[in-house]
Amino acid sequence: MSTLDKSASLNEEDFSQEERLEGMRLAGRLTAEALDMLVEHVKPGVRTKDLDRLALEFALDHGAIPAPLNYRGFKGSICTSLNHVVCHGIPGSRVLKEGDTINLDVTLIKDGWHGDSSRMYPVGEISRKAERLIDITWECLMRGIAVVRDGATTGDIGHAIQSYAESQNCSIVREFCGHGLGRRFHTQPNILHYGDPGTGTPLTTGMCFTIEPMVNLGRADVKVLGDGWTAVTRDKSLSAQFEHSIMVTDSGCEIFTKSPKNLDKPPYVTL
Ligand code: MF3
Ligand code: CO
Ligand code: CO
Repeated sequence: MSTLDKSASLNEEDFSQEERLEGMRLAGRLTAEALDMLVEHVKPGVRTKDLDRLALEFALDHGAIPAPLNYRGFKGSICTSLNHVVCHGIPGSRVLKEGDTINLDVTLIKDGWHGDSSRMYPVGEISRKAERLIDITWECLMRGIAVVRDGATTGDIGHAIQSYAESQNCSIVREFCGHGLGRRFHTQPNILHYGDPGTGTPLTTGMCFTIEPMVNLGRADVKVLGDGWTAVTRDKSLSAQFEHSIMVTDSGCEIFTKSPKNLDKPPYVTL
């Protein structure tokens, strides 16, 4: 197969392990850089569609394509999920105001490889309980990542996340999960953010997937609004999410979407 055929191919098998690793590292790094770029733009007065535009321009400037754009009819380059929105918020004319919390979820396709990551951003000063939820959600992601290694299972990840969230009197959203990714956006295995140790799919070295827990201050129940996308907590309680794209290794994992500027979680101290 020619290089041209290859760049259009969705089949992972058409690529060597080195090519695949290089592709996933590049896509992950660019995705993290887009999230870094957005930090200084999240402030009162900015519309969610302004953030969407900035992310689109960043992608195109770097030879990448935002995967959400026209994905199953999604109208946006990123997801912008505010306050009690759990995920899949559609960018629009909503203006950010002091005290809001927003999740920005960026998925970039670079040379056919996907990087998928999201972070929470505070708008100005936020409440102590919002700060606490964000800290707990970050800790959930990190505890999920910490148990990943060749020989562990998806249930080990889910259990690590669920048990911590519930120990903090928070709840885990059940309707959405992490996913395999690579040449495609969403593939097997499903990474549930709840479960029992030793159950589910065994993890093997080289597997690439996301972990992306959604954690609510109140009850776990969600509903999807009439736009067909926006998922919100039924009790209108605050929700938070962080997401990384990773690859399983013999002794742990490699995180593809780590911030090069150490802006993985708030407070975002930029010098
Ligand atoms: N980035 C989301 C995820 O983590 C998916 C967004 S799909 C979209 O899987 F269409 F809503 F953008
Ligand atoms: Co994802
Ligand atoms: Co995502």
